[in-house]
Amino acid sequence: MREFLGGLGRKYARLATDIAVRKPGLWRFFRPLMRKQFDAIAPVWDTMRDPTHLLPYEEALATVEPAPGRALDLGTGTGEGAFAIARRFPRAEVVGADLADRMLEEARRKTPPGLRERLRFEHADASRLPYADGSFDLVAHANMIPFFDELDRVVAPGGWALFAFSSGAETPIYVAPERLRDELARRGFVDFADFAAGKGTALLARKGERT
Ligand SMILES: C[S@@+](CC[C@H](N)C(=O)[O-])C[C@H]1O[C@@H](n2cnc3c(N)ncnc32)[C@H](O)[C@@H]1O
Repeated sequence: MREFLGGLGRKYARLATDIAVRKPGLWRFFRPLMRKQFDAIAPVWDTMRDPTHLLPYEEALATVEPAPGRALDLGTGTGEGAFAIARRFPRAEVVGADLADRMLEEARRKTPPGLRERLRFEHADASRLPYADGSFDLVAHANMIPFFDELDRVVAPGGWALFAFSSGAETPIYVAPERLRDELARRGFVDFADFAAGKGTALLARKGERT
């Protein structure tokens, strides 16, 4: 499986990302294999990660203000992004969501006791989230396919969207910043900021206030 993810799996992830961004309705054809792939790799996922993989994500988080009260880490995998949010914002209620139940099991097992009261992990598909409109002040993605309509729906006015890619354009699940900006601007997001740290990149944007 490690070899699969190293070659064919990376190509599959890039193809699924490109198609889901352009035609979100086609995501359902990619979902079963994507889920199976990440369930299979869950026990060794952390051993495959570069220790600097979340640097751009954390740099972007450091600029988010005011501190979010409710935050979602989408495609959380083994939970490292959700842990980073919970540590940076000590009052935030944080949800880590993922399709792959074995990834979620790892995330729950690893959750530090000090974070357990305000951090939970839930099964959810980012293309159809089980959360009410405006549920979150921050929705973060680390190496995760964005679904812009659902993202726009669950981010509260004035809230933040974050996208980080651990190896920049070399990341298997990657969306170019121009595309992210374009999709977000069309939905009323503003205040774009780019980050580069370690081998990776990130983009942060704020949803406009609507009255
Ligand atoms: C490349 S991994 C990234 C995991 C983690 N964020 C990290 O950076 O280490 C992508 C994760 O997104 C999850 N995923 C992919 N598509 C998803 C979707 N539509 N909804 C929820 N999770 C999804 C996968 O199961 C996998 O755990």
